[in-house]
Amino acid sequence: MNNLHLFLPCAGGVETYLADEATKIIGDKEAIRQEMGGVAVKASWRQALELNLHSRLASRVLVGVMQRPYRSEDDIYEAACDVAWEIWFTHKQTFKIDITATRSPLKSLNFAALRVKDAICDRFRHKSGERPSVDTQRPDARVYVHLSAEHVSLYVDTSGEPLFKRGWRQDKGDAPLKETLAAAMIAASGWWDLKSSAAQTSFQPLYDPCCGSGTIAIEAAQIALGIPAGGQRRFGFERLLPFQKHVWDAMKTEALSADSARGNGQKDLKNIEIYGSDVAHRMVDFAQRNAELAGVAEIVQLRGGDALQRKPPCEVPPQGAVILTNPPYGERIEIAGVAAQSRGARVHTVRANHSPRGLRDEFDRPIEESHIQADARPVRASRETAEFNAEEGDFFPQLATHWKTHFDGWTAHLLVPDMKLPGKMRLKETRRVPLWNGPIECRLFRFDIQGRKEQKAAQA
Ligand SMILES: C[S@@+](CC[C@H](N)C(=O)[O-])C[C@H]1O[C@@H](n2cnc3c(N)ncnc32)[C@H](O)[C@@H]1O
Repeated sequence: MNNLHLFLPCAGGVETYLADEATKIIGDKEAIRQEMGGVAVKASWRQALELNLHSRLASRVLVGVMQRPYRSEDDIYEAACDVAWEIWFTHKQTFKIDITATRSPLKSLNFAALRVKDAICDRFRHKSGERPSVDTQRPDARVYVHLSAEHVSLYVDTSGEPLFKRGWRQDKGDAPLKETLAAAMIAASGWWDLKSSAAQTSFQPLYDPCCGSGTIAIEAAQIALGIPAGGQRRFGFERLLPFQKHVWDAMKTEALSADSARGNGQKDLKNIEIYGSDVAHRMVDFAQRNAELAGVAEIVQLRGGDALQRKPPCEVPPQGAVILTNPPYGERIEIAGVAAQSRGARVHTVRANHSPRGLRDEFDRPIEESHIQADARPVRASRETAEFNAEEGDFFPQLATHWKTHFDGWTAHLLVPDMKLPGKMRLKETRRVPLWNGPIECRLFRFDIQGRKEQKAAQA
Protein backbone atom coordinates (compact mmCIF):
# COMPACT_ATOMS: atom_id res chain seq x y z
CA MET A 1 0.00 0.00 0.00
CA ASN A 2 3.02 2.28 0.04
CA ASN A 3 3.77 2.08 -3.64
CA LEU A 4 0.49 2.72 -5.43
CA HIS A 5 0.12 3.92 -9.00
CA LEU A 6 -2.66 6.48 -8.83
CA PHE A 7 -4.41 8.16 -11.70
CA LEU A 8 -6.33 11.38 -11.09
CA PRO A 9 -8.62 12.17 -14.02
CA CYS A 10 -9.65 15.79 -14.60
CA ALA A 11 -11.46 17.99 -17.11
CA GLY A 12 -9.59 18.75 -20.34
CA GLY A 13 -7.24 21.73 -19.96
CA VAL A 14 -6.87 21.25 -16.19
CA GLU A 15 -3.94 18.79 -16.27
CA THR A 16 -1.16 21.35 -15.64
CA TYR A 17 -2.96 22.90 -12.69
CA LEU A 18 -3.77 19.46 -11.25
CA ALA A 19 -0.11 18.42 -11.52
CA ASP A 20 0.84 21.55 -9.52
CA GLU A 21 -1.92 20.93 -7.00
CA ALA A 22 -0.95 17.26 -6.51
CA THR A 23 2.68 18.35 -6.01
CA LYS A 24 1.54 20.80 -3.36
CA ILE A 25 -0.58 18.17 -1.59
CA ILE A 26 1.93 15.32 -1.48
CA GLY A 27 5.07 17.47 -1.59
CA ASP A 28 6.97 15.33 -4.12
CA LYS A 29 7.29 16.65 -7.68
CA GLU A 30 9.19 13.55 -8.83
CA ALA A 31 6.19 11.33 -8.07
CA ILE A 32 3.90 13.22 -10.45
CA ARG A 33 3.50 12.89 -14.20
CA GLN A 34 1.10 14.97 -16.24
CA GLU A 35 -0.84 12.97 -18.82
CA MET A 36 -3.66 13.58 -21.25
CA GLY A 37 -6.91 13.83 -19.25
CA GLY A 38 -5.30 13.58 -15.84
CA VAL A 39 -2.24 13.13 -13.68
CA ALA A 40 -0.38 9.95 -12.68
CA VAL A 41 0.95 9.92 -9.12
CA LYS A 42 3.17 7.39 -7.35
CA ALA A 43 1.87 7.51 -3.82
CA SER A 44 1.07 5.68 -0.60
CA TRP A 45 -2.42 4.75 0.55
CA ARG A 46 -2.25 7.61 3.02
CA GLN A 47 -1.43 10.04 0.22
CA ALA A 48 -4.36 8.68 -1.80
CA LEU A 49 -6.59 9.70 1.10
CA GLU A 50 -4.92 13.12 1.30
CA LEU A 51 -5.46 13.69 -2.42
CA ASN A 52 -9.15 12.84 -2.02
CA LEU A 53 -9.49 15.20 0.90
CA HIS A 54 -7.60 18.16 -0.54
CA SER A 55 -7.77 18.09 -4.32
CA ARG A 56 -10.11 20.69 -5.83
CA LEU A 57 -9.23 19.83 -9.42
CA ALA A 58 -9.26 16.02 -9.71
CA SER A 59 -12.54 14.33 -10.56
CA ARG A 60 -11.49 11.09 -8.83
CA VAL A 61 -8.53 9.29 -7.30
CA LEU A 62 -8.09 5.87 -8.93
CA VAL A 63 -5.62 3.15 -7.93
CA GLY A 64 -4.15 1.40 -10.95
CA VAL A 65 -4.15 -2.38 -10.35
CA MET A 66 -3.34 -3.74 -13.81
CA GLN A 67 -2.18 -2.57 -17.21
CA ARG A 68 -1.64 -5.06 -20.01
CA PRO A 69 -1.78 -5.29 -23.81
CA TYR A 70 -5.02 -6.82 -25.17
CA ARG A 71 -6.60 -7.75 -28.45
CA SER A 72 -9.82 -9.45 -27.43
CA GLU A 73 -12.39 -9.67 -24.62
CA ASP A 74 -10.70 -12.88 -23.50
CA ASP A 75 -7.44 -10.99 -22.91
CA ILE A 76 -9.38 -8.53 -20.77
CA TYR A 77 -10.94 -11.41 -18.81
CA GLU A 78 -7.49 -12.92 -18.17
CA ALA A 79 -6.08 -9.57 -17.04
CA ALA A 80 -8.96 -9.04 -14.60
CA CYS A 81 -8.59 -12.60 -13.24
CA ASP A 82 -4.99 -11.79 -12.30
CA VAL A 83 -5.86 -8.83 -10.05
CA ALA A 84 -5.98 -9.46 -6.28
CA TRP A 85 -9.44 -7.91 -5.86
CA GLU A 86 -9.70 -9.60 -2.45
CA ILE A 87 -7.28 -7.08 -0.94
CA TRP A 88 -9.74 -4.29 -1.82
CA PHE A 89 -13.19 -5.73 -1.04
CA THR A 90 -14.86 -8.97 0.08
CA HIS A 91 -17.37 -11.32 -1.51
CA LYS A 92 -19.96 -9.98 0.91
CA GLN A 93 -19.72 -6.50 -0.64
CA THR A 94 -21.18 -5.12 -3.85
CA PHE A 95 -19.34 -3.65 -6.81
CA LYS A 96 -19.89 -1.82 -10.07
CA ILE A 97 -17.88 -1.60 -13.31
CA ASP A 98 -17.43 1.61 -15.30
CA ILE A 99 -15.72 1.47 -18.67
CA THR A 100 -14.27 4.09 -21.02
CA ALA A 101 -12.30 3.70 -24.22
CA THR A 102 -10.24 5.64 -26.74
CA ARG A 103 -9.67 4.01 -30.11
CA SER A 104 -10.44 0.51 -28.80
CA PRO A 105 -10.83 -2.05 -31.60
CA LEU A 106 -13.56 -3.90 -29.64
CA LYS A 107 -17.13 -3.75 -30.90
CA SER A 108 -18.98 -3.65 -27.57
CA LEU A 109 -17.77 -1.88 -24.45
CA ASN A 110 -20.67 -3.38 -22.51
CA PHE A 111 -19.45 -6.86 -23.36
CA ALA A 112 -15.91 -5.97 -22.28
CA ALA A 113 -17.29 -4.68 -18.95
CA LEU A 114 -19.25 -7.92 -18.56
CA ARG A 115 -16.06 -9.93 -19.00
CA VAL A 116 -14.38 -7.92 -16.23
CA LYS A 117 -17.40 -8.58 -13.99
CA ASP A 118 -17.18 -12.32 -14.79
CA ALA A 119 -13.45 -12.35 -14.00
CA ILE A 120 -13.97 -10.67 -10.61
CA CYS A 121 -16.79 -13.06 -9.66
CA ASP A 122 -14.87 -16.13 -10.87
CA ARG A 123 -11.79 -15.13 -8.91
CA PHE A 124 -13.77 -14.68 -5.68
CA ARG A 125 -15.66 -17.95 -6.23
CA HIS A 126 -12.40 -19.74 -6.76
CA LYS A 127 -10.87 -18.28 -3.58
CA SER A 128 -13.82 -18.35 -1.17
CA GLY A 129 -16.63 -20.29 -2.82
CA GLU A 130 -18.79 -17.15 -2.96
CA ARG A 131 -18.98 -14.13 -5.23
CA PRO A 132 -19.82 -10.47 -4.64
CA SER A 133 -22.98 -9.00 -6.20
CA VAL A 134 -23.25 -6.14 -8.62
CA ASP A 135 -24.99 -2.95 -7.47
CA THR A 136 -25.07 -0.14 -10.01
CA GLN A 137 -26.70 2.39 -7.65
CA ARG A 138 -24.83 2.27 -4.34
CA PRO A 139 -21.88 -0.10 -4.77
CA ASP A 140 -19.33 -0.65 -2.01
CA ALA A 141 -16.54 -0.77 -4.57
CA ARG A 142 -16.18 0.75 -8.03
CA VAL A 143 -13.90 -0.74 -10.64
CA TYR A 144 -12.82 1.38 -13.61
CA VAL A 145 -11.73 -0.10 -16.91
CA HIS A 146 -10.03 1.96 -19.58
CA LEU A 147 -9.30 0.58 -23.03
CA SER A 148 -6.82 2.33 -25.28
CA ALA A 149 -6.01 1.03 -28.75
CA GLU A 150 -3.61 -1.53 -27.29
CA HIS A 151 -3.81 -1.58 -23.50
CA VAL A 152 -6.42 -2.47 -20.92
CA SER A 153 -6.04 -0.58 -17.60
CA LEU A 154 -7.95 -1.60 -14.48
CA TYR A 155 -8.43 0.67 -11.49
CA VAL A 156 -10.03 0.57 -8.04
CA ASP A 157 -11.78 3.87 -7.34
CA THR A 158 -11.13 5.44 -3.94
CA SER A 159 -13.43 8.47 -4.31
CA GLY A 160 -16.95 7.06 -4.68
CA GLU A 161 -19.12 9.97 -5.71
CA PRO A 162 -17.12 12.26 -8.06
CA LEU A 163 -15.00 14.80 -6.23
CA PHE A 164 -16.83 17.84 -7.60
CA LYS A 165 -19.51 16.90 -5.07
CA ARG A 166 -18.07 18.66 -2.05
CA GLY A 167 -20.95 17.88 0.27
CA TRP A 168 -22.15 21.45 0.88
CA ARG A 169 -24.41 22.10 -2.09
CA GLN A 170 -28.14 21.93 -1.48
CA ASP A 171 -29.34 24.52 -3.95
CA LYS A 172 -28.22 24.15 -7.53
CA GLY A 173 -29.95 26.71 -9.70
CA ASP A 174 -30.29 25.96 -13.38
CA ALA A 175 -26.74 25.59 -14.66
CA PRO A 176 -24.31 25.33 -11.77
CA LEU A 177 -20.66 25.07 -12.61
CA LYS A 178 -18.97 21.93 -11.33
CA GLU A 179 -16.92 22.83 -8.29
CA THR A 180 -13.85 21.25 -9.91
CA LEU A 181 -14.22 23.53 -12.95
CA ALA A 182 -14.77 26.59 -10.77
CA ALA A 183 -11.53 25.72 -8.96
CA ALA A 184 -9.78 25.29 -12.33
CA MET A 185 -10.94 28.77 -13.37
CA ILE A 186 -9.62 30.18 -10.10
CA ALA A 187 -6.26 28.47 -10.69
CA ALA A 188 -6.11 29.51 -14.37
CA SER A 189 -6.85 33.12 -13.45
CA GLY A 190 -3.75 33.15 -11.24
CA TRP A 191 -5.80 34.16 -8.17
CA TRP A 192 -4.91 30.83 -6.57
CA ASP A 193 -1.15 30.30 -6.60
CA LEU A 194 -0.46 26.60 -7.06
CA LYS A 195 3.19 26.99 -8.04
CA SER A 196 4.55 28.06 -4.69
CA SER A 197 5.01 25.40 -2.03
CA ALA A 198 4.40 27.95 0.73
CA ALA A 199 0.88 28.70 1.96
CA GLN A 200 -0.67 31.62 0.09
CA THR A 201 -1.29 34.50 2.46
CA SER A 202 -2.55 37.29 0.24
CA PHE A 203 -5.52 37.29 -2.08
CA GLN A 204 -6.83 39.94 -4.46
CA PRO A 205 -10.49 40.97 -4.17
CA LEU A 206 -12.56 38.61 -6.32
CA TYR A 207 -16.00 39.37 -7.81
CA ASP A 208 -18.41 37.15 -9.78
CA PRO A 209 -21.12 39.42 -11.25
CA CYS A 210 -23.20 36.45 -12.57
CA CYS A 211 -22.68 34.24 -9.54
CA GLY A 212 -25.70 31.92 -9.88
CA SER A 213 -25.57 29.46 -6.99
CA GLY A 214 -22.22 30.91 -5.89
CA THR A 215 -19.83 28.14 -6.91
CA ILE A 216 -16.86 30.35 -7.90
CA ALA A 217 -17.12 32.62 -4.86
CA ILE A 218 -17.54 29.69 -2.47
CA GLU A 219 -14.61 27.72 -3.92
CA ALA A 220 -12.43 30.83 -3.73
CA ALA A 221 -13.44 31.48 -0.13
CA GLN A 222 -12.66 27.89 0.89
CA ILE A 223 -9.26 28.18 -0.79
CA ALA A 224 -8.48 31.43 1.03
CA LEU A 225 -9.56 29.99 4.38
CA GLY A 226 -7.70 26.71 3.85
CA ILE A 227 -10.89 24.65 4.18
CA PRO A 228 -10.26 21.19 2.69
CA ALA A 229 -12.33 20.50 -0.44
CA GLY A 230 -13.61 17.13 0.81
CA GLY A 231 -14.06 17.97 4.49
CA GLN A 232 -17.85 17.68 4.30
CA ARG A 233 -18.32 14.48 2.32
CA ARG A 234 -17.88 10.72 2.46
CA PHE A 235 -15.51 8.77 0.20
CA GLY A 236 -15.50 5.38 -1.51
CA PHE A 237 -12.30 4.37 0.35
CA GLU A 238 -14.25 4.28 3.60
CA ARG A 239 -15.78 0.97 2.40
CA LEU A 240 -12.58 -0.58 1.06
CA LEU A 241 -10.56 -3.13 3.06
CA PRO A 242 -7.35 -1.06 3.54
CA PHE A 243 -9.39 1.66 5.27
CA GLN A 244 -8.44 2.40 8.89
CA LYS A 245 -10.95 4.67 10.55
CA HIS A 246 -8.59 6.03 13.22
CA VAL A 247 -6.01 7.08 10.60
CA TRP A 248 -8.66 8.85 8.53
CA ASP A 249 -10.28 10.54 11.55
CA ALA A 250 -6.90 11.92 12.64
CA MET A 251 -6.10 13.16 9.12
CA LYS A 252 -9.45 14.88 8.81
CA THR A 253 -9.28 16.46 12.25
CA GLU A 254 -5.86 17.87 11.45
CA ALA A 255 -7.04 19.24 8.09
CA LEU A 256 -10.13 20.80 9.56
CA SER A 257 -8.40 22.45 12.49
CA ALA A 258 -7.99 26.19 12.04
CA ASP A 259 -4.22 26.13 12.37
CA SER A 260 -3.68 23.33 9.89
CA ALA A 261 -0.18 23.69 8.50
CA ARG A 262 -1.39 22.85 5.00
CA GLY A 263 -4.26 25.29 4.93
CA ASN A 264 -3.81 28.95 4.31
CA GLY A 265 -5.20 29.52 7.81
CA GLN A 266 -6.27 33.08 7.13
CA LYS A 267 -6.94 34.48 10.55
CA ASP A 268 -7.72 38.01 9.52
CA LEU A 269 -10.96 37.70 7.60
CA LYS A 270 -10.89 41.41 6.77
CA ASN A 271 -8.05 40.69 4.33
CA ILE A 272 -10.26 38.52 2.16
CA GLU A 273 -12.79 40.20 -0.10
CA ILE A 274 -15.01 37.90 -2.15
CA TYR A 275 -18.20 39.13 -3.79
CA GLY A 276 -20.97 37.71 -5.91
CA SER A 277 -24.10 39.13 -7.48
CA ASP A 278 -26.79 37.87 -9.82
CA VAL A 279 -29.78 39.45 -11.51
CA ALA A 280 -31.99 36.62 -10.21
CA HIS A 281 -32.76 37.03 -6.52
CA ARG A 282 -33.69 33.37 -6.33
CA MET A 283 -30.08 32.54 -7.30
CA VAL A 284 -28.67 34.95 -4.72
CA ASP A 285 -30.73 33.16 -2.05
CA PHE A 286 -29.34 29.81 -3.26
CA ALA A 287 -25.80 31.18 -3.20
CA GLN A 288 -26.28 32.55 0.31
CA ARG A 289 -27.56 29.22 1.60
CA ASN A 290 -24.71 27.36 -0.12
CA ALA A 291 -22.13 29.77 1.35
CA GLU A 292 -23.55 29.12 4.81
CA LEU A 293 -23.39 25.35 4.34
CA ALA A 294 -19.83 25.60 3.00
CA GLY A 295 -18.74 27.56 6.07
CA VAL A 296 -17.78 30.73 4.18
CA ALA A 297 -20.81 33.01 4.65
CA GLU A 298 -18.67 35.32 6.78
CA ILE A 299 -16.41 36.32 3.90
CA VAL A 300 -18.60 35.96 0.80
CA GLN A 301 -20.79 39.00 0.21
CA LEU A 302 -23.73 38.33 -2.08
CA ARG A 303 -26.21 40.77 -3.60
CA GLY A 304 -28.88 40.96 -6.29
CA GLY A 305 -28.31 43.07 -9.39
CA ASP A 306 -27.71 43.29 -13.09
CA ALA A 307 -24.08 42.85 -14.17
CA LEU A 308 -24.66 45.79 -16.51
CA GLN A 309 -25.54 48.07 -13.61
CA ARG A 310 -23.61 46.84 -10.60
CA LYS A 311 -20.73 49.13 -9.66
CA PRO A 312 -17.45 47.63 -8.32
CA PRO A 313 -17.88 46.17 -4.86
CA CYS A 314 -14.56 47.65 -3.69
CA GLU A 315 -11.66 49.89 -4.71
CA VAL A 316 -8.80 48.27 -6.61
CA PRO A 317 -5.93 47.71 -4.15
CA PRO A 318 -2.28 47.91 -5.32
CA GLN A 319 -2.17 44.13 -5.91
CA GLY A 320 -5.17 44.37 -8.30
CA ALA A 321 -8.70 42.99 -8.29
CA VAL A 322 -10.27 40.19 -10.24
CA ILE A 323 -13.62 39.53 -11.93
CA LEU A 324 -14.13 35.81 -12.50
CA THR A 325 -17.35 34.53 -14.01
CA ASN A 326 -19.08 32.12 -16.33
CA PRO A 327 -21.69 34.45 -17.74
CA PRO A 328 -25.06 33.37 -19.12
CA TYR A 329 -24.50 31.76 -22.47
CA GLY A 330 -26.42 29.40 -24.73
CA GLU A 331 -29.59 27.45 -24.28
CA ARG A 332 -29.77 26.70 -20.60
CA ILE A 333 -29.19 30.15 -19.11
CA GLU A 334 -30.72 33.23 -20.56
CA ILE A 335 -29.46 36.75 -20.17
CA ALA A 336 -31.76 38.92 -18.12
CA GLY A 337 -31.82 42.53 -16.99
CA VAL A 338 -31.11 45.68 -18.97
CA ALA A 339 -29.75 43.80 -21.99
CA ALA A 340 -33.27 42.41 -22.33
CA GLN A 341 -34.79 45.89 -21.92
CA SER A 342 -32.60 47.36 -24.60
CA ARG A 343 -34.32 45.04 -27.05
CA GLY A 344 -37.45 47.05 -26.41
CA ALA A 345 -39.54 44.67 -24.38
CA ARG A 346 -41.93 45.55 -21.61
CA VAL A 347 -39.92 44.11 -18.78
CA HIS A 348 -40.05 43.69 -15.08
CA THR A 349 -36.48 44.02 -14.06
CA VAL A 350 -34.16 44.91 -11.21
CA ARG A 351 -32.06 48.03 -11.01
CA ALA A 352 -29.14 48.95 -8.84
CA ASN A 353 -29.72 51.90 -6.60
CA HIS A 354 -26.65 54.02 -7.13
CA SER A 355 -25.49 55.85 -4.10
CA PRO A 356 -23.14 58.77 -3.60
CA ARG A 357 -21.61 56.87 -0.69
CA GLY A 358 -18.52 54.68 -0.88
CA LEU A 359 -18.28 51.77 -3.27
CA ARG A 360 -18.76 49.18 -0.59
CA ASP A 361 -21.86 51.00 0.65
CA GLU A 362 -23.27 50.99 -2.82
CA PHE A 363 -22.72 47.26 -3.16
CA ASP A 364 -24.44 46.77 0.18
CA ARG A 365 -27.55 48.70 -0.71
CA PRO A 366 -30.73 46.83 -1.56
CA ILE A 367 -31.91 46.65 -5.14
CA GLU A 368 -35.07 48.52 -6.05
CA GLU A 369 -37.58 46.90 -8.33
CA SER A 370 -38.93 48.99 -11.16
CA HIS A 371 -41.30 48.47 -14.06
CA ILE A 372 -40.06 49.88 -17.33
CA GLN A 373 -42.49 50.53 -20.12
CA ALA A 374 -41.48 50.09 -23.71
CA ASP A 375 -43.55 49.51 -26.76
CA ALA A 376 -41.87 46.99 -28.99
CA ARG A 377 -42.60 43.28 -29.21
CA PRO A 378 -42.56 41.29 -25.99
CA VAL A 379 -39.81 38.72 -25.59
CA ARG A 380 -40.22 35.31 -24.05
CA ALA A 381 -40.39 35.21 -20.23
CA SER A 382 -37.78 32.88 -18.81
CA ARG A 383 -37.87 32.03 -15.12
CA GLU A 384 -39.40 33.18 -11.91
CA THR A 385 -36.94 36.02 -11.37
CA ALA A 386 -34.53 36.15 -14.29
CA GLU A 387 -37.01 38.13 -16.25
CA PHE A 388 -36.63 38.10 -20.00
CA ASN A 389 -34.35 36.66 -22.55
CA ALA A 390 -31.94 38.72 -24.59
CA GLU A 391 -29.55 37.73 -27.29
CA GLU A 392 -25.99 37.48 -26.07
CA GLY A 393 -25.14 39.93 -28.86
CA ASP A 394 -26.68 42.73 -26.78
CA PHE A 395 -25.24 41.73 -23.44
CA PHE A 396 -21.51 41.40 -24.03
CA PRO A 397 -20.81 44.74 -25.78
CA GLN A 398 -22.79 46.46 -23.02
CA LEU A 399 -20.81 44.58 -20.39
CA ALA A 400 -17.55 45.74 -21.99
CA THR A 401 -18.77 49.36 -21.99
CA HIS A 402 -19.87 49.07 -18.36
CA TRP A 403 -16.52 47.66 -17.32
CA LYS A 404 -14.55 50.33 -19.25
CA THR A 405 -16.64 53.00 -17.54
CA HIS A 406 -16.62 51.66 -13.98
CA PHE A 407 -14.06 48.85 -13.54
CA ASP A 408 -10.82 50.58 -14.49
CA GLY A 409 -7.84 48.57 -13.21
CA TRP A 410 -9.75 45.28 -12.76
CA THR A 411 -8.70 42.09 -14.52
CA ALA A 412 -11.71 40.20 -15.86
CA HIS A 413 -11.78 36.47 -16.69
CA LEU A 414 -14.78 35.01 -18.52
CA LEU A 415 -15.40 31.35 -19.31
CA VAL A 416 -17.42 31.02 -22.53
CA PRO A 417 -17.78 28.54 -25.39
CA ASP A 418 -17.48 31.37 -27.96
CA MET A 419 -14.01 31.79 -29.43
CA LYS A 420 -15.08 35.12 -30.95
CA LEU A 421 -16.08 36.75 -27.67
CA PRO A 422 -13.21 39.34 -27.61
CA GLY A 423 -14.31 40.66 -31.02
CA LYS A 424 -17.91 40.90 -29.86
CA MET A 425 -16.83 42.82 -26.75
CA ARG A 426 -14.34 44.92 -28.74
CA LEU A 427 -11.75 44.05 -26.13
CA LYS A 428 -8.36 42.49 -26.77
CA GLU A 429 -7.77 39.50 -24.54
CA THR A 430 -4.43 39.30 -22.75
CA ARG A 431 -4.71 35.54 -22.30
CA ARG A 432 -6.93 32.66 -23.42
CA VAL A 433 -6.90 29.34 -21.58
CA PRO A 434 -8.66 26.31 -23.10
CA LEU A 435 -10.92 24.55 -20.55
CA TRP A 436 -13.62 21.95 -21.14
CA ASN A 437 -16.99 22.34 -19.44
CA GLY A 438 -18.08 18.70 -19.75
CA PRO A 439 -18.24 18.08 -23.50
CA ILE A 440 -18.19 21.82 -24.35
CA GLU A 441 -14.89 23.35 -25.39
CA CYS A 442 -14.52 26.76 -23.75
CA ARG A 443 -11.95 29.49 -23.33
CA LEU A 444 -11.20 31.44 -20.19
CA PHE A 445 -10.52 34.89 -21.65
CA ARG A 446 -8.58 37.46 -19.64
CA PHE A 447 -9.18 41.16 -20.23
CA ASP A 448 -7.18 43.87 -18.48
CA ILE A 449 -9.76 46.60 -18.12
CA GLN A 450 -8.53 50.08 -18.96
CA GLY A 451 -10.94 52.86 -18.14
CA ARG A 452 -11.87 55.38 -20.81
CA LYS A 453 -9.67 58.13 -19.31
CA GLU A 454 -6.68 55.80 -19.13
CA GLN A 455 -7.20 54.68 -22.71
CA LYS A 456 -7.18 58.29 -23.91
CA ALA A 457 -4.03 59.05 -21.92
CA ALA A 458 -2.33 55.94 -23.35
CA GLN A 459 -3.26 56.99 -26.89
CA ALA A 460 -2.04 60.60 -26.37
C1 LIG B 1 -24.10 30.15 -16.27
S1 LIG B 1 -24.95 30.80 -14.91
C2 LIG B 1 -23.73 30.94 -13.67
C3 LIG B 1 -23.68 29.70 -12.85
C4 LIG B 1 -22.85 29.85 -11.62
N1 LIG B 1 -21.42 29.95 -11.91
C5 LIG B 1 -23.13 28.70 -10.67
O1 LIG B 1 -22.21 27.94 -10.41
O2 LIG B 1 -24.27 28.51 -10.26
C6 LIG B 1 -25.22 32.47 -15.35
C7 LIG B 1 -25.96 33.31 -14.32
O3 LIG B 1 -26.08 34.62 -14.85
C8 LIG B 1 -27.27 35.17 -14.35
N2 LIG B 1 -27.62 36.32 -15.21
C9 LIG B 1 -28.31 36.38 -16.37
N3 LIG B 1 -28.36 37.65 -16.84
C10 LIG B 1 -27.68 38.41 -15.95
C11 LIG B 1 -27.39 39.81 -15.86
N4 LIG B 1 -27.79 40.66 -16.80
N5 LIG B 1 -26.68 40.25 -14.79
C12 LIG B 1 -26.26 39.39 -13.81
N6 LIG B 1 -26.53 38.06 -13.84
C13 LIG B 1 -27.20 37.57 -14.89
C14 LIG B 1 -28.27 34.05 -14.36
O4 LIG B 1 -29.31 34.30 -13.44
C15 LIG B 1 -27.37 32.85 -13.97
O5 LIG B 1 -27.45 32.60 -12.59
